[in-house]
Amino acid sequence: MPLLFFSRRFLIFSTIIPFIASIALYRVDTFDPSHLPADALVYSTTSIPPLVNDQLLTGAEFIGVGLLNKPEDIAYDRDSGLIYTGCVDGWVKRVKVMESANDSVVENWVNTGGRPLGLAFGLHGEVIVADAYKGMFNISDDGRKTELLTDEAEGVRFKLTDAVAVGDNGVLYFTDASYKYDYSQSSFDVLEGKPHGRLMSFNPTTRTTRVLLKDLYFANGVSMSPDQTHLVFCETPCSVLFLNSIISSLCAFIESYHFKVVFLLLSEEDAASTTSVRSVLRYLFKAYRVIQITFGYDGDGHYWIAMPTGVTTLWKLSMRYPLLRKVTAMVAKWGFNLMFAEDAGVLQVDFDGNPIAFYHDHKITHLTTGVKIGKYLYCGSLLHSRILRLDLLNYPAQKSL
Ligand SMILES: *[C@@H]1O[C@H](CO)[C@@H](O)[C@H](O)[C@H]1NC(C)=O
Ligand SMILES: *[C@@H]1O[C@H](CO)[C@@H](O)[C@H](O)[C@H]1NC(C)=O
Repeated sequence: MPLLFFSRRFLIFSTIIPFIASIALYRVDTFDPSHLPADALVYSTTSIPPLVNDQLLTGAEFIGVGLLNKPEDIAYDRDSGLIYTGCVDGWVKRVKVMESANDSVVENWVNTGGRPLGLAFGLHGEVIVADAYKGMFNISDDGRKTELLTDEAEGVRFKLTDAVAVGDNGVLYFTDASYKYDYSQSSFDVLEGKPHGRLMSFNPTTRTTRVLLKDLYFANGVSMSPDQTHLVFCETPCSVLFLNSIISSLCAFIESYHFKVVFLLLSEEDAASTTSVRSVLRYLFKAYRVIQITFGYDGDGHYWIAMPTGVTTLWKLSMRYPLLRKVTAMVAKWGFNLMFAEDAGVLQVDFDGNPIAFYHDHKITHLTTGVKIGKYLYCGSLLHSRILRLDLLNYPAQKSL
């Protein structure tokens, strides 16, 4: 009977005790995820882009390999031809890209001492940085001067400043993904499923910070439309999950004045429906027919939307069931990540939000930016130590069957 004895003990130690322990832990753990709004659980598969390249890695070149540590966002300065990107080690780096990706030159430019995420150019050549830990910076005088512009609004400090766009009037539009969780804890914000994000503006003339929208779910990328009439931005877990992908770098454009006008018009039309921020948002998108947004305006009439992962079955279940997110969060506290990512990509849409082309690859994850510069698509990443570059003429998206 020793074998059975062993087995029973083994069973007790390997299964029952951990099971009881996890129930006990579960009861003790204060992490309390919420149900998500029903529209966050809808996975649209109806808008298939006419053109697809599902082998984004084929023919891709890598820039700054080992020198760019998780370059999340990319901003391109047409005048100097330099690419600016923010890395996890606090550096805003400048990259001179060459005909051959291997010849590109990476320069450490300015270290914010935090985690630079979103980047945009101000009206006077300055670089505006959304630093996850520190707030909004103005880096001017070719990097010699760094000024903190704002790090709180309505008495609430930013905790995960994420993305920024600059209007032609000089006003900055930016997002704070969460006032509760910082960059290192960002997955817990998504798992908790509560709206801690805000879309804000900063007017450099009056130096005032305004909250345009609050109660957003992990507010992420933001862009200004070229005609300055609207903002496009995205919420990460609750965006329209287009093509079964999670849109992270969102984009949108909205001039705050115009935004107010839209709000008022909608109020007149349907006062009852505009009482909550979410319905205003939905109407906004409807009004402009913008599918959730994108990142990067290529100057040819398109937005580019980065998607760090496709939607896995576990993701779908987790979004539906808060209990699963609680277990995932508890496991994550022990250092295990259950939220596997797969199949990142970049979606090209026109200004009305109609999909044009989708570049993706199931072998890649955590793409966070797509920017078209000339014939190339440049992609930032929250995972890799490099910028990916694809020649769109040699490796175009093709008609999908
Ligand atoms: C660039 O460098 C990589 C890694 O060293 C190498 O595999 C590749 O062939 C190089 N490409 C060119 C065009 O030189
Ligand atoms: C950034 O700083 C420079 C130099 O002080 C200034 O000219 C510019 O207006 C500032 N930009 C913003 C958005 O504050």
